[in-house]
Amino acid sequence: MKKAGVVGHPVAHSLSPKLHGYWLKHYGIDGEYKAYDIAPENLAQFFETMEAQGFVGCNFTIPHKERALELVDIADDLAVAVGAVNTVMVKDGKTVGTNTDVAGFYENLKPYVSRLAAKDKQKAVVLGAGGAARAVVVALRQLGFGSIIVTNRSADKAEALARQHGLISLPWNEREAALLDADLLVNTTSLGLAGQPPLELSLATLPAHAIVTDIVYKPLMTPLLEAAKARGLTVVDGLGMLLYQAAPGFAAWFGRDPEVTEELRAHILGA
Ligand code: ATR
Repeated sequence: MKKAGVVGHPVAHSLSPKLHGYWLKHYGIDGEYKAYDIAPENLAQFFETMEAQGFVGCNFTIPHKERALELVDIADDLAVAVGAVNTVMVKDGKTVGTNTDVAGFYENLKPYVSRLAAKDKQKAVVLGAGGAARAVVVALRQLGFGSIIVTNRSADKAEALARQHGLISLPWNEREAALLDADLLVNTTSLGLAGQPPLELSLATLPAHAIVTDIVYKPLMTPLLEAAKARGLTVVDGLGMLLYQAAPGFAAWFGRDPEVTEELRAHILGA
């Protein structure tokens, strides 16, 4: 039986076991995927013993993604560009790390971006400059956005991200002005997450064709997405990114390309 799992701290809230468990059952695969709570000081040892413990690989989540990049034997270009590893494969005794958050965001947005006219998929605005924002900007380039504006409460982080990826950074208090003519707005901050304050932002200046997406998926319809919907804008929730980012790991570990379906979404959203 093939064994994989998600490693985090804390990890009990992770939806990944439910997600991979659904696919294992759906495809009749003899595999196992569990959550492992590993404290940061024990992460290096976990990596060293991953193969001996019988893992074909693992996902790494908060707070381990940056450290996982340092601990893998081999990191691919995407993981290096994002500065974080969330998926590891054990291959020929070596740990190989990649970042599937980029593909997760890309696949979730692609159908919506494809529907826009070429002139309406130029400018994207990214709120936040943390780990998630780094994956999002790489995906935005792949989606064809030529002008990417990043704005963050801590200006230094927005400026560093902008330098690394050739973006424009704007002060956080000018975020509303950035929305004028924006084709896509992405929230990567934790604002709007259950228990966190909502994001304060008027969407009045966004053009009618604009897409608004949030990587927060608890609640599924964040106050930002509700406001966008009320204005009649196209809204893309964050659950799709979670589902799509899981697919490449599942395929590598268990040998089957899994599908993201409405039934899977309903299963994950169910209690
Ligand atoms: P993740 O890996 O999910 O991106 P992170 O690296 O901790 O998590 O980033 C969280 C993001 O939410 C950051 O952009 C953070 O802004 P700072 O860099 O200024 O910390 C943003 N964020 C969190 N709380 C915020 C708040 N109250 N107001 C504005 N931005 C906030």
